[in-house]
Amino acid sequence: MSEFIEAMTFRHACKHFDTTKQIPAEQFESILEVARISPSSFGMEPWRLIVVRNESLRKALKPLCWNQSQITECSELVILTTDNDIVRSRSPYVRKMFERRGLSAEAVDTYVGVYKNYLAPIENDELLLENWTAKQSYIAAANMMTYAATLKIDSCPIEGFEKEQVEAVLDLPQGKTVALICAFGYRVDPQSPQMRLAMKEIVEYR
Ligand SMILES: Cc1cc2nc3c(=O)[nH]c(=O)nc-3n(C[C@H](O)[C@H](O)[C@H](O)COP(=O)(O)O)c2cc1C
Repeated sequence: MSEFIEAMTFRHACKHFDTTKQIPAEQFESILEVARISPSSFGMEPWRLIVVRNESLRKALKPLCWNQSQITECSELVILTTDNDIVRSRSPYVRKMFERRGLSAEAVDTYVGVYKNYLAPIENDELLLENWTAKQSYIAAANMMTYAATLKIDSCPIEGFEKEQVEAVLDLPQGKTVALICAFGYRVDPQSPQMRLAMKEIVEYR
């Protein structure tokens, strides 16, 4: 079995983490690095990660996350937030992200123009824009969790939370929103059986 498939099989949504085990710092940093180098639409890297280590902050978050025990039990808690204002087409950040490719000023103008057209249907709608940036942070989250599994580190993606309340507790500035929470650590219980639809139910060839 390839290492990748092995990791995909090892990974499951871990419900209870061993509170006595800490992820070694170097390994956790490599999990963050995997998020950092993940792909994003137009290379805008809209994600901003908050690693919550403070015990009282985790305790405050837990009831807002449907009382899920992973919030306080995991070794590392990562909140994937997105910066939605900076990805609007008129933002200097967008230009900077294209400029870093070493393009001519004309080429940057062209890129910004294409980007502006692409974003036109969504960038004036907070929710649509937020969904677009969130979609990308899910790619980073998936990469982090699968990579963690290669290190025999467990994880749980958490979407079960009261978004506005979590954002308030984190005191997120205007334009930033929470996309997803990911808990990392080590399982207590054996892995639950992986239940999935059959290939023929999800793939069609045309
Ligand atoms: C976007 C997303 C959000 C999820 N939110 C939660 C959650 O809040 N709490 C939880 O225990 N599991 C959560 N899960 C885990 C799923 O329930 C789980 O991945 C699915 O049932 C398949 O099980 P497995 O990952 O253990 O194979 C989430 C998964 C995804 C992809």
